[in-house]
Amino acid sequence: MKFTTRQFLKTAGLFGAGLLLAACGKKEEPASTAAPAAGSAPVAAAPAPAKTLVVGTDAAYAPFESQNEKGEIVGFDMDVLTAVAKKAGFEVKFVNTPWEGIFNTLQQGDRDLLISAITITPERKQTMDFAGPYFDAYQLIAVKQSSKVAKFGDLKKLKVGVQTGTTGDEVVTKLLGKASTNVKRFESTPLALKELEAGGVDAVVADNGVVVNYVANNTSAKFKTVSDSAFTPEQYGIAVKNGNTELLEKVNKALAEIKTDGTYNAIYTKYFGSPAAAPAPAASK
Ligand code: ARG
Repeated sequence: MKFTTRQFLKTAGLFGAGLLLAACGKKEEPASTAAPAAGSAPVAAAPAPAKTLVVGTDAAYAPFESQNEKGEIVGFDMDVLTAVAKKAGFEVKFVNTPWEGIFNTLQQGDRDLLISAITITPERKQTMDFAGPYFDAYQLIAVKQSSKVAKFGDLKKLKVGVQTGTTGDEVVTKLLGKASTNVKRFESTPLALKELEAGGVDAVVADNGVVVNYVANNTSAKFKTVSDSAFTPEQYGIAVKNGNTELLEKVNKALAEIKTDGTYNAIYTKYFGSPAAAPAPAASK
């Protein structure tokens, strides 16, 4: 006999949720729903298997996060968080998550952590907590090699590509004006850079690591970078849901450990060629 899901639920409903659970016996909880139900009584704990935390990342931001040919999410951020998880005693599962809405997935509990080259900003700190900082960054301009752009202010009357909702978007919107139609917003930074190559925008503003990586790996695009000391220093953090102090502290502690024992510097060197400039960013207290 075959039950449809609806029939099954209806029948099961007659017996109540408790019986249903009992009938199902031990059930492997998917990681995303592993949080204990509110109000459930604490159960004497058998040594729990390492918990798997679901981590959101917008995996179109090499070298911090990208997808390889096998579809695996790889990058500096993955290596850092995997090392952190190992120290802190949990497992991580990276889930590709569009940048637009990524913060909501944390609020809604669909993700336990976000690592996505996220700049810690005062506004973002109002809606979530950040472990770290774990990386220093700044905005960098990409233009065609033939471009006359020499400083940020030169972009004022030009078409500028940014990834929607990033700090690059913020600074460019500030320079060109909120109402400007010259700010061209893209769903990902690589899309903005493709548009620069196609000539649809005159410049792209994004995080230095990503711009440098793209320019180096796409020589046929004939880009160059333009830096400007007017850009304020940025720092990346690992986001946890507002008030999740337990996880925040675990991650901060593990971050501090991988910085002291050399793991962080090894990862840094793997991706950026040389060790992180001293002093390595300290975990915030
Ligand atoms: N650091 C910038 C920000 O926080 C850009 C981050 C974009 N990250 C990504 N994986 N697409 O706004």
